[in-house]
Amino acid sequence: MSVIFECERVTKAYGGLLAVKDLSFSVEEGEVYAIAGPNGAGKTTLFDTISGVSPVTNGTIRFYGQEIQRRRADDICRLGIARTFQTTVSFDTQTVLTNVLVGAAMGRPGTGKITLEFDQEAIQTALDVLEFCGLLDKQDWPASSLSVSERKKLMLATALATKPKLLLLDEPVGGLNRQERSDMVEFVRKVNQLGITVLMIEHIMKAVQALANRMLVLHHGEKIAEGVPSDVLRDERVIEVYLGGKHREKLSDNGGR
Ligand SMILES: Nc1ncnc2c1ncn2[C@@H]1O[C@H](COP(=O)(O)OP(=O)(O)O)[C@@H](O)[C@H]1O
Ligand SMILES: [Mg+2]
Repeated sequence: MSVIFECERVTKAYGGLLAVKDLSFSVEEGEVYAIAGPNGAGKTTLFDTISGVSPVTNGTIRFYGQEIQRRRADDICRLGIARTFQTTVSFDTQTVLTNVLVGAAMGRPGTGKITLEFDQEAIQTALDVLEFCGLLDKQDWPASSLSVSERKKLMLATALATKPKLLLLDEPVGGLNRQERSDMVEFVRKVNQLGITVLMIEHIMKAVQALANRMLVLHHGEKIAEGVPSDVLRDERVIEVYLGGKHREKLSDNGGR
């Protein structure tokens, strides 16, 4: 396997607060790589810097060896990185199909101009993605009328319509019930089986263990552990610092993936 994506000594400061500190890691093509850590650890901030939503303060981010840390969000998207958000976002008054069409139009290589041209190719891409996501029969519904889990799927469908090589998922199973969580785990697996590399923020360990080849744990913006989930979740520092002593027994019984 080869490295598709890497962060080298990435730091992000908000004023005096260092939300991400000197963070380095790399992701192999085809893998599911998870990022865990308590609230406020800097996980979403990291995604914001990768996806061009906010600039890094220091450090280098590479995608297929090319530096992307100074590129614009739409440019990064066209290069092949798509993301979802922790809080579900969609164009609520627009239909399910229109939402996904925006993804299909944005992901296209082109002149650098942002145009929303819903030509036949974009429409076909959007319909294929909706079918893959199980939302084809709801293509004419306004996005606001979908359930929470369907809206998460719609956000994923919009990201997939950009035809990413690397998909960033910010807490894909957060806010879902048990059945929906296991459906989403299966869905992310199906996405990965398409050959899409997945970088996933998740603190529900069952989902991490079910999906991730490797993981890292962030704490106050710094990496405190990295490796295969079964090892990382037995790491003393991870148990004490991140998960808390009371989970020790539960975690060590877990047996990895
Ligand atoms: N836009 C912002 N401006 C200022 N501080 C922020 C901003 N976004 C996040 N932070 C702060 O950065 C830290 C990391 O937040 P975040 O990346 O959302 O953590 P996580 O996703 O791991 O819960 C927190 O202390 C948070 O309050
Ligand atoms: Mg977050």
